Amino acid sequence: MKILFIGDIFGNPGRRVLAQRLSSLIDEQHVDVCIANGENAAGGRGITGNICKKLRKYGVQVITGGNHSFNIADNDPSFMDHPTVVRPLNYPPGNFGKGSTVYTLEDGRKIGVVNLMGRTFFPETLDCPFRSGMEAIRELKKQTPIIFVDFHAEATSEKIAFAFHADGLASAVIGTHTHVQTADERILPKGTAFLSDAGMTGPENSCIGMKPGGVISRYLLQTHIRFEPSDESPVISGVIIDADEATGKAILINRVYERITLI
Ligand SMILES: [Fe+2]
Repeated sequence: MKILFIGDIFGNPGRRVLAQRLSSLIDEQHVDVCIANGENAAGGRGITGNICKKLRKYGVQVITGGNHSFNIADNDPSFMDHPTVVRPLNYPPGNFGKGSTVYTLEDGRKIGVVNLMGRTFFPETLDCPFRSGMEAIRELKKQTPIIFVDFHAEATSEKIAFAFHADGLASAVIGTHTHVQTADERILPKGTAFLSDAGMTGPENSCIGMKPGGVISRYLLQTHIRFEPSDESPVISGVIIDADEATGKAILINRVYERITLI
């Protein structure tokens, strides 16, 4: 099964890039299922039900999240109940939404998707992603051998450690959140595809999506200056994984990084 994962979609430029390029990329690469991290799709911070609908129209089939999953601009969290939307599993019980799902393709094939959040450098008090993540993977494996994990985290060490922990059980563990694509894609010894960070689908000429001026000022002045989203030099950033349908093990991992001229 060929899986295309799109790294953090950032605001309007990220959405426009997908509107223009996603369907042709899916065709060219013979993608079976497209998963995307959408936690920054609304103005660079958060997501809405309306944006989820747009992403589905562009070709995204499952939408994952992160620390901004609960920033819902229109205050309507009902879209989180949709079977194709997940947010980090290890938030405390009582929050909206769910942390894992099984998506069924038109031909009946299934893929399990788990969304986790790391704990290093985050202020949130979260359950252990290692324990809750493995429990979720084992549960989904009862329905399908193919399991995709979006591990939303700041620290590469935490993402790498989890990938080795899940090696042989998950088909892929792909990091998100930093908005900077790493070049460490590989297949681990027992068959799990891994990349520390899939990068950002959004404005390349930016400080992780925001106009550099405000970010530089915050560093210089040490005051809370409001950041403004950039819209310069949009890119599509992500990764393609091919997983063996019988064993669930990865047989290929390739990064995707394309500069797009919007028309
Ligand atoms: Fe994030």
